[in-house]
Amino acid sequence: MHALGIDIGGSGIKGAPVDVATGKLLTPRQKIPTPRPAVPDDVAGVVKQLTSSFSWSGPVGITFPGVVTNGVTRTAANLDPAWLGLDAAALFGRATGDKVRVLNDADAAGVAEMTFGAGVGEKGTVLMLTFGTGIGSALFIEGLLVPNTEFGHIEIRGHDAETRASERAKELHDLSWGKWAGRVDEYLQHIEALLSPDLIIVGGGISKQSEKWVPRITGIRAGIVPAALLNDAGIVGAAMATSTGTR
Ligand code: BGC
Repeated sequence: MHALGIDIGGSGIKGAPVDVATGKLLTPRQKIPTPRPAVPDDVAGVVKQLTSSFSWSGPVGITFPGVVTNGVTRTAANLDPAWLGLDAAALFGRATGDKVRVLNDADAAGVAEMTFGAGVGEKGTVLMLTFGTGIGSALFIEGLLVPNTEFGHIEIRGHDAETRASERAKELHDLSWGKWAGRVDEYLQHIEALLSPDLIIVGGGISKQSEKWVPRITGIRAGIVPAALLNDAGIVGAAMATSTGTR
């Protein structure tokens, strides 16, 4: 089965048709900058542009960087507040004329990693974390997703964790790899105290340079591995969601 996967991020909206049985992109992905401000109608316009550029008609899966229940976007920490309580599945359905599934971006990336990437065959409690504009989380128990966890927003030293340890925080505060990895280590120690995961998969754009920081994470017992699908995990997971029960 083929489906179009679209990944809405803070800086770019990217998409590609995917073979959901193999997790492979059928054509190279396309990326369009996220409109500023990222209001729903403008984002829907970009989604329409992407479906048209692939001449797509068929199932469409779309990730969103916030909590999504039954197609309704419930939080939007790094996008416009107009998304709160919006039926995004209906909005994108109208824009594309296709049947659309909307889900959290980290959940999508996590499902793709568990099926085709670093989490294949991993049992027990597995936590996927994405480090980008924010910190996204996807929690798996014996391979089953617990949707819409928001572990990027736990409090560390009186601050929202993602404002201290996301990739954006590294850039914004011009942190060295050592300094930033120290913050990530502290964050992961809190996560471990709460969840005791067997394995933590670290993804997001910064996982491309995992050799610069993952070896510095020494304060946790859990295994830690970089994501394998890198930037395509969201697209693949979005496409997979069109044919699975991921809420
Ligand atoms: C949002 C999450 C999202 C993460 C990564 C956080 O700010 O609350 O829902 O998964 O950013 O985009």
